[in-house]
Amino acid sequence: MKTVNLETLARPSLKNIQVYVPGRPIEEIFRQYGLRSVIKLASNENPLGPSPKVLAALRQNLKGISRYPEGSAYYLKQDLSRHLNVKPEELIITSGSSEAISLCLQAFVSPGDQVVFPRPSFLIYPILCHMIGAVAVEIPLNEDYSYSVERILASITEKTKVLILCNPNNPTGTILTRSQLDQLWRELPERVITISDEAYAEYVESKNYGSALPSFRQRHVLIARTFAKIYGLAGLRIGYGIASEEMVQILEKIRPPFNTTSLAQVAARAALKDRQYVIRALRVNSRGKKYLFRELTRLGFSCIPTQANFILCDFKRPASGLVKELEKRGILIRLMPAAGLGDNLARITIGTRAENEKLVKTLKQIL
Ligand SMILES: Cc1ncc(COP(=O)(O)O)c(C=O)c1O
Repeated sequence: MKTVNLETLARPSLKNIQVYVPGRPIEEIFRQYGLRSVIKLASNENPLGPSPKVLAALRQNLKGISRYPEGSAYYLKQDLSRHLNVKPEELIITSGSSEAISLCLQAFVSPGDQVVFPRPSFLIYPILCHMIGAVAVEIPLNEDYSYSVERILASITEKTKVLILCNPNNPTGTILTRSQLDQLWRELPERVITISDEAYAEYVESKNYGSALPSFRQRHVLIARTFAKIYGLAGLRIGYGIASEEMVQILEKIRPPFNTTSLAQVAARAALKDRQYVIRALRVNSRGKKYLFRELTRLGFSCIPTQANFILCDFKRPASGLVKELEKRGILIRLMPAAGLGDNLARITIGTRAENEKLVKTLKQIL
């Protein structure tokens, strides 16, 4: 019989962590409503499914799974280095880009240090901060969900260790522009490490996008990117960080030795080579974005202009009932209460043309 409550033994900072709630398994929704198909527009995945070239490469390499993966992801780094025009030594390969973000925080942030990031933004940032016992300082975006560089700069204190920029920002799809980033670089103290989370960078159409890629040799910055979105490999958990050699060496000290799988590395290499797939994904996203904007606006809703593969939609009324009705009809979109967004707002991943049309048709039926 246990007499000591296990919670009292856990690190005190874990008390602040709300367990991340992912969407329910699709199979459960099939079963609950007796559906034959479900359209998942809830997790910002690539709606095209994996590239056939990736699937072929995976099939060819299945026999290798009895061996440990190549720990440093040597060949993938070579390919990525050519693709991004950076040195292999400026790359760290991680289990999704969230691991790159996590490693950076673990390497540089001590308990009590402050980590600044926008609100609303990606929900793992506060979780990672609390894991370390850091103080999460959440800086509201402007009313139109754009970044306020002034507010970010005003929040920096002696205790600020890391600034996280989510660019494009999830769940708003808004970006930090080139001139905003330049202003930030000019005024941010050099000792503050920046994480530029660029999970959706490849989708950006704006010419004013402020990726941190041109600046990572001049600043202490980690750029986190992923194969989960435009490359269609969310289930394989593979991403990477781009940083100075000096920073990569520090992060490598705490990277678990076999953090990515051999098949994930194979898939990522094949995905990088399949340019046609990426072009198609961009085209589908761009057209879907225009279509959904037009149709959702016609229905009286308002959409936040997005640079990513999702749209934050203001339904101008409590949306939870609507989301439930869509779910019953096999369409999943995401309310974001944990991000502090009111009940009127939901995030919709841009799907294939057929999926987007089904969403609009079903919304019309419900309304
Ligand atoms: C802003 C942002 N960063 C990072 C990630 C995580 O990507 P990965 O699957 O590569 O860990 C996501 C996933 O949704 C995201 O929205």
